[in-house]
Amino acid sequence: MTFDPQQVNDLIRTRRSIFVPQFEPGKIIPDDIIWQLLENANWAPSHKRTESWRFTVFTGVGLQKLADFQATLYKETAGSKFDEGKYQKLLAMPPQCSHVIAIGMKRVDEGLPEIEEIEAVACAVQNLALSAHAYGLGGFWSSGGVTYTEAAKAFFGLGSADKLLGFFNLGYVRTPGSVGKRGPVQEKVQWVAE
Ligand SMILES: Cc1cc2nc3c(=O)[nH]c(=O)nc-3n(C[C@H](O)[C@H](O)[C@H](O)COP(=O)(O)O)c2cc1C
Repeated sequence: MTFDPQQVNDLIRTRRSIFVPQFEPGKIIPDDIIWQLLENANWAPSHKRTESWRFTVFTGVGLQKLADFQATLYKETAGSKFDEGKYQKLLAMPPQCSHVIAIGMKRVDEGLPEIEEIEAVACAVQNLALSAHAYGLGGFWSSGGVTYTEAAKAFFGLGSADKLLGFFNLGYVRTPGSVGKRGPVQEKVQWVAE
């Protein structure tokens, strides 16, 4: 099998985070496309093949269920830090997406450093993000709200040794992302040849 490297370069370099206000309101992605994204996520590498990624997909009325859960949990646990704007955002955001995919790390092998099971999930999410871009969809990884909180885990089928790493929010693109910006790769690389 051969691939056009330039197409891969273009796919990777033109992927941008597309945020909720940039989504086409009310336009729903077919579930079979979401399954293709999940299938590609599932082909990520993982040390000792732990396949530590776990996803919960919310769509339809499920989006309201997610919104209610995360806003209520935030309200119950924020204490003196409670911020009405943040509460309203947690309530409003999921129903504006076509699908929201909760990103979990299942601690499969306690013999491995935990970071490796997290790293494998990040690889899976990048597969998902690039696949979404290839299908002409928009999305972004959000890690605010109830992400990383102990009390949220059970709702997403996660146990105490597992981690909730955030959400991948998906929709059709109404307003494309910016061109994107990165510092030169040369500043991040040491090259040892002799
Ligand atoms: C682990 C992770 C967590 C992120 N969390 C958030 C977030 O909570 N809110 C947000 O607006 N963007 C979040 N992002 C998206 C970044 O803002 C985005 O990737 C960055 O600005 C670079 O833009 P690009 O994705 O278009 O290249 C997250 C990205 C990653 C990888």
